[in-house]
Amino acid sequence: MADDERRPLVAGNWKMNGLESSAAELRAIIAGAGRFSNKADFLVCPPFTLIAGFAALAKGSEVRIGGQNCHAEPSGAFTGEISAEMLEDAGAKAVIVGHSERRMYQRERDEDVRAKALAAHRAGLMAIVCVGETQEQRESGATLRVIGHQLTGSLPDKASAANLVVAYEPVWAIGTGLTPTTGDIAEVHNFIRERLVSRFGHGGEGIRILYGGSVKPSNAKELLSVRNVDGGLIGGASLKASDFLGIAAAALE
Ligand code: PGA
Repeated sequence: MADDERRPLVAGNWKMNGLESSAAELRAIIAGAGRFSNKADFLVCPPFTLIAGFAALAKGSEVRIGGQNCHAEPSGAFTGEISAEMLEDAGAKAVIVGHSERRMYQRERDEDVRAKALAAHRAGLMAIVCVGETQEQRESGATLRVIGHQLTGSLPDKASAANLVVAYEPVWAIGTGLTPTTGDIAEVHNFIRERLVSRFGHGGEGIRILYGGSVKPSNAKELLSVRNVDGGLIGGASLKASDFLGIAAAALE
């Protein structure tokens, strides 16, 4: 999946799904992830309500727990918000920022995403910054321009392989069953790699770039073995341990 120097990351985004009873799925993921322990990192991002409990369950295992969003400020009068420091305090090691659903429904702009990524770093969390074009943008040939713009505006100025991951998620591929061709994925991932290297120098070589959008066990090998694809950000298929582990198995074995 990844080049030698980059350790693959298999990350699950549970979105607004999961109750206390979902701990059974996490237990199964933890049990299954053990056999890939020397091959990949695993991350599960449940809703906020499950982070502390899941972090306690996952302690000492291969699986890390992350959030799906954070506020840019560490604390304050922001009713209903959760800070990166709070996520860290609850046991999270990472946070997804700028997911297209938040860019769309919460109208998050690149500058908001960048502020959240900086907040993640301030709190000691790894930031997973999402970028991706809409169907309309792809059809009009604007994909690389859009992604370039999102990267320029959303990435923090200082970052390393330890605290930054970029996820390429074409909006039209999320939850639709549609996926880009491997050629399209290669084009975007190579472009993102070039941008990371020009922005962060040699460090940009080590930053992982995930592909996300309708990844499932049956297409994981094809999609995740493309050069410069260093793992996957999995939505729907991460909710079932058997599918999530099936994706890892297809991609890593
Ligand atoms: P999906 O979602 O795997 O359900 O397409 C991916 C994501 O939104 O991260």
